[in-house]
Amino acid sequence: MTGGLGYIGRFCVRSLRDAGWDVVAVDRRPPEAGPALETPTITADVADSDRIEAVLRAHHVDVVLHLAGDKSVAESMTRPGPLLRNNVGGALGLLEAMVAAGVKRLVFSSSAAVYGTPERLPIDEAAPLRPENPYGASKAMIEDTLRWYAACHQVDSLSLRYFNAAGAATDGSLGEDPGRAVNLVPRVMDALAGRSGPLQVFGTDFPTPDGTAIRDYVHVEDIAAGHLRAIEHVLRTRGADAINIGTGRGWSVREVLAAAGAATGRPVPFEEAPRRRGDPAAVWADTAKAVQVLGWSAARSLDDIMRTAWEWEMRGARPA
Ligand code: WQD
Repeated sequence: MTGGLGYIGRFCVRSLRDAGWDVVAVDRRPPEAGPALETPTITADVADSDRIEAVLRAHHVDVVLHLAGDKSVAESMTRPGPLLRNNVGGALGLLEAMVAAGVKRLVFSSSAAVYGTPERLPIDEAAPLRPENPYGASKAMIEDTLRWYAACHQVDSLSLRYFNAAGAATDGSLGEDPGRAVNLVPRVMDALAGRSGPLQVFGTDFPTPDGTAIRDYVHVEDIAAGHLRAIEHVLRTRGADAINIGTGRGWSVREVLAAAGAATGRPVPFEEAPRRRGDPAAVWADTAKAVQVLGWSAARSLDDIMRTAWEWEMRGARPA
């Protein structure tokens, strides 16, 4: 697994190990960046094909989960070059290593950002890919690359288009690094805990029922469970495909604040602020394909997301 030390990566390592898989994690950050993983962890850049090929051979890898990548949308708008080089170049380096080592199965962490502003809701996988920032574009480029590696090298893959990943471990042992987080849920937690100023609500004039933007928040443990199904899928099918990983339900920013208040027993301090550049009004997933093809659907609610994220925040939110 690449990106094993990241927020979603750590949850996937745990789920895979619990399911009996041997996992080798690769990450460009050294393992001291947070609690140790309970699995062999190699410090390497995925763009380094020779190095990755050696890892694939040494560990007799059957399936690669490719989670490593830059994920800051805002940074991608100000400096697209480094993110494109890292995400697209990294995927190419990894794919060349896989071909050289004869590893033919891949699960890729894509994003709902590949769709841009949807024409229809919920968004299904056949919707056109019209990313509106270099981050989303990098994911769409990699999905396209995967189709060519299926056609030319018989590398079979499944791209998981995550919607808004959020929440922490039910047992309180893992979560998102608050220092690095720019997303809504960890920011709400920081505001509740008094670690930041009031939460800024970006835009109250969207064409939605309460004027704030709507997203599909999916618990990180559900995302990890989706990876287990995705692995089984790539082991039994050919070609390159993509599947939404969302709940099928959208929540406005105001509804998220209300859910956080209800789960924690305290109101979220907030202030209204202008829209953030490039934010679509409403995005939520059509989940039919995930149910049909993977037999997967999200089991956890927005309330579960809030309760676990709050417990994590209260534990002092050690870096993950
Ligand atoms: C959610 C909503 C904000 C912060 C992006 C990528 C996606 C995925 C997650 C990778 C929006 C509003 C936020 C705040 C706010 N990528 N908001 N105040 O933009 O939907 O998705 O990040 O990891 O691919 O596109 O996520 O959590 O930033 O925002 O009002 O302080 O919350 O405007 O409506 P987003 P987000």
